[in-house]
Amino acid sequence: MEIIIPFNRSSLEGRELEFIFRTISIGQIAGDQIFSKKCHGLLEEVVGGRRALVTTSCTHALEMAAILLGIGTGDEVIVPAFTFVSTANAFVLRGARPVFCDIRPDTLNLDEAKLEELITPRTRAIVPVHYAGVGCEMDAILEIAGRHGVEVVEDNAHGLFGKYRGRWLGSLGCLATQSFHETKNITCGEGGALLINEERFIERAEIIREKGTNRARFFRGQVDKYSWVDVGSSYVMSDVLAAFLYGQLEKWREIQAKRRAIWESYDAELADWAAANGVRRPVVPEHCEQAWHMYYLLMPSLEARTEFIARLKERGVAAVFHYLPLHLSSYAESKELGAWSKERPAECPVTEDVADRLVRLPFYTSMTEEEQGRVIQAVLESKR
Ligand SMILES: Cc1ncc(COP(=O)(O)O)c(C=O)c1O
Repeated sequence: MEIIIPFNRSSLEGRELEFIFRTISIGQIAGDQIFSKKCHGLLEEVVGGRRALVTTSCTHALEMAAILLGIGTGDEVIVPAFTFVSTANAFVLRGARPVFCDIRPDTLNLDEAKLEELITPRTRAIVPVHYAGVGCEMDAILEIAGRHGVEVVEDNAHGLFGKYRGRWLGSLGCLATQSFHETKNITCGEGGALLINEERFIERAEIIREKGTNRARFFRGQVDKYSWVDVGSSYVMSDVLAAFLYGQLEKWREIQAKRRAIWESYDAELADWAAANGVRRPVVPEHCEQAWHMYYLLMPSLEARTEFIARLKERGVAAVFHYLPLHLSSYAESKELGAWSKERPAECPVTEDVADRLVRLPFYTSMTEEEQGRVIQAVLESKR
């Protein structure tokens, strides 16, 4: 059967087209124009960081973080084994070795109880991922990191507008990264942001983002010409995309409210079915205000998941699995990382188990009640 309910679909949630039209009409479509500045302002005001800079992707914001921290050959960076490749890759690009930490069985976030044993004198950074927009145990992570003099960069690709113990996700590490990829709550197709929470990184971040030049200072009139002053790359987002992004960002409360309703409806409607079929629903601790990013289920086994995805597909519903364990990837075994993987073998049984059993249901801001009803019906009828 053809897919009727996609896993994800982007939508217009506000004045995206008006803003794009405006930026093109006034002839300012390169980066750091009106709408990029508006995005920066909103992120700084809401999440409360010292400085926000929109970037071409979350991957690129992570690369900027790696450069800002001075990560180099032989440094170790601790990342969860259950994450997107970029969490690790951005640091590996600088010569670092990824050290994979297992995840908690409840929130599927980096397991802070397993963290300290992974720290060595070469450890430079820990990169927790707030999976599904539910905060990691940041108090413990920050305490351990602080005691060992290790930096914490939040990969907050899923967690914009979520909170941990009343504090915004993205405001807790010295740096944090956001994604505005099509699959995220707030999107512009492809895009990201670096949130800078400590003054010491701001000036260099602007330089790295502008190809290693002090162009940002030049435009502020602080220097009379700009030149090559550091390493860097082209991480600036076009204002056409920033216009789309701001159209979404200014509607963030409405977007989050819509997604909350969808999430809560899935959770209520599927509770009995899940209990009867040995399926686990997401766990959100009391002290976390989640970001309503995704709705996932943990099926009893890999076989059950494979069958579940196939049954939903027969009913026109696209359900998908998520990350494959990074420590079992072909790159972890490659000539570049294979020797390291043998020297420091990752023990991540929870990641391996969860990666086999997790399935994500269709979830997008514009999902109608009828569409969601169809997904729920397909789930309830998924057992033959
Ligand atoms: C945890 C995590 N980090 C980083 C990324 C990369 O985001 P982007 O596509 O904006 O580079 C993703 C992508 O989905 C992700 O899930």
